[in-house]
Amino acid sequence: MSKVRIAVLISGGGTNLQSIIDAVDSGELDLQIACVVSNRKEAFGLKRAENAGIPAYYVGKGNYPEDQERETALLNLLEKKKIDLIVLAGYLNILPSSVIGAYKDRIINIHPSLIPRHCGKGFYGMKVHESVISSGDAVTGVTIHYVDEGVDTGKVIERVEIPVFESDMAESLSKRVLVIEHELLVRVLKDLIENFGGRYES
Ligand code: GRF
Repeated sequence: MSKVRIAVLISGGGTNLQSIIDAVDSGELDLQIACVVSNRKEAFGLKRAENAGIPAYYVGKGNYPEDQERETALLNLLEKKKIDLIVLAGYLNILPSSVIGAYKDRIINIHPSLIPRHCGKGFYGMKVHESVISSGDAVTGVTIHYVDEGVDTGKVIERVEIPVFESDMAESLSKRVLVIEHELLVRVLKDLIENFGGRYES
């Protein structure tokens, strides 16, 4: 049986992508990272993919200025790469509904808070952790969920709680959360691949 083929969509540093790459290299994850796609040309995650010998693509306003052509380029790429499952790992772009429709229940996203707290439009990166700190929440966490038409609104797959310390600032909190993100993402992917077996086979 051929391996499940995933596309990882990024916009930035790609440490979550790196955790998947490392888990595949160690044999912990039995899947194929068929491609990495970024909507930002300068995303370091593209370099991480290249260093790992994974096909890496920039699909953004710089090379596809028109929305429709960018959407078509992304769809065509995913189809050409025979993608079974799409992983949004710090992808700071709203996926076109055509992609969401074509990959219904086969797109997951990782968000650095306990959804439905501190999520939705404008809640990304450090802004999430700043919101947690200013809210006085004693607990935050990581959520992995399916992607639907909304922003951070899809069915939750798994959440992990993380305590917020008195001494925490957004920076220190983000570092602790990121470690848990990397662990949870690999664990959830492992479960999805094992439990759904051929479901993602194209
Ligand atoms: C992570 O905090 C992730 O939860 C959020 O964006 C950040 C991406 O970090 N969606 P990286 O690019 O994987 O290092």
